[in-house]
Amino acid sequence: MRVMVVGGGGREHAIIKKIKQSPKVTEIFALPGNGGIAADATCVDIGAKDLDNIVKFAKENSIEFAIVAPDDPLVMGLVDLLKAEGIPCFGPTADAAIIEGSKAFSKDLMKAYGIPTAEYETFEDLEEALAYLENCKIPVVIKADGLALGKGVIIAETKEQAQKAVRDMMEDKVFGDSGNVVVIEEFLTGPEVSVLSFTDGKTLIPMVSSMDHKRALDGDKGLNTGGMGTIAPNPYYTKEIAIQCEEEIFLPTMIAMNKEHRSFSGCLYFGLMLTPDGPKVIEYNCRFGDPETQVVLPLLDSDLFEIMEHVANGTLADAEVNFADDAACCVVMASEGYPQSYEKGYEITIPEDVDTVYVAGAKLSEDGKLLTNGGRVLGVTERGATLEEAIEKAYKSVEKVSFDNAFYRKDIGQRALKAKEN
Ligand code: AMP
Ligand code: GLY
Repeated sequence: MRVMVVGGGGREHAIIKKIKQSPKVTEIFALPGNGGIAADATCVDIGAKDLDNIVKFAKENSIEFAIVAPDDPLVMGLVDLLKAEGIPCFGPTADAAIIEGSKAFSKDLMKAYGIPTAEYETFEDLEEALAYLENCKIPVVIKADGLALGKGVIIAETKEQAQKAVRDMMEDKVFGDSGNVVVIEEFLTGPEVSVLSFTDGKTLIPMVSSMDHKRALDGDKGLNTGGMGTIAPNPYYTKEIAIQCEEEIFLPTMIAMNKEHRSFSGCLYFGLMLTPDGPKVIEYNCRFGDPETQVVLPLLDSDLFEIMEHVANGTLADAEVNFADDAACCVVMASEGYPQSYEKGYEITIPEDVDTVYVAGAKLSEDGKLLTNGGRVLGVTERGATLEEAIEKAYKSVEKVSFDNAFYRKDIGQRALKAKEN
């Protein structure tokens, strides 16, 4: 089958490497892909938000199955357009992708269907939002309603910070129209867990749990990033908690979306916080997480492409979905300065014996060299029988990969290891 994958980061590289193992997949096109993905797929220079040209490409190149990975094209309705052309897709239609596209929508959904989440209020008016902050508990969390490249969440430690965040979003429009509406939310505490799931709207199968490391520096210090590393499974996510989440969060969410006539098909991502009052939803994503995918898919022992076909056909109940009991660790290597300004264009060296490198921000030079081209450059994943082993192997491999100005966190997985001791 001729398969098209929309997107061009480490997550898409992980999806591509996995579907490549399927005997059903004969050719893979990545739109736009990147210099590293070019080793595993044919990269086509069409951006993930260029919907018209993506559809045109799919038609002209007889694409038989499309996987839409990033949030933007999903929320913009790419799956709707491709399906209208008769192309089967893995990914939700726009009316379901709103679960990530609008935080006000997802909060109201959770409230209406009794799904545990932080207390909140939604505001369309700046003065009303500011008045609310006068008497609310601090710290408080301010969220832009729409997509904001993962940066639309501010944890305000003081009233002044909260006021500034609301003004930035609603008055100065730092996130554009995404800040027309803001959600002001209760600050929750507890370990965070990411759970990705396959669902066709009738069946929901959670994947192995994982833990992201969002801050730039060791010890969870520094600025928020797109993710500096991940481990799976997440030791805080015990069997008991998993059962509770399925009953109180996952299935109720799937059913709620059906009741709203927004049946969700694709990968539904649950960002959870295990609070003293039980697990609560911090966020939904309408797609695979990045860099969670880079530890979850290497642990999948089944055929990812077949599962995706089942999801698209509405026959997920018939799919074989098995995860190994092993652990995995992904360490992201970034350009010094990320998530702020950084230099690019440095040559990347990856020795043959480093097996699993998922490339995110890199391009090929005219003479075929792989050059850094982004903040997060690549992720190195290793699998082990235990979490300790996976972490040790991942860092050994990281030391073999090199480029100028590289930096990475040295403590990916350490918090998880401590949790296991307790
Ligand atoms: P999000 O973009 O929604 O994933 O939020 C980014 C991060 O902000 C989350 O991973 C949490 O660490 C933190 N966060 C979001 N909402 C809350 C909340 N209500 N209480 C505490 N932390 C939060
Ligand atoms: N790792 C968080 C996300 O993909 O949004």
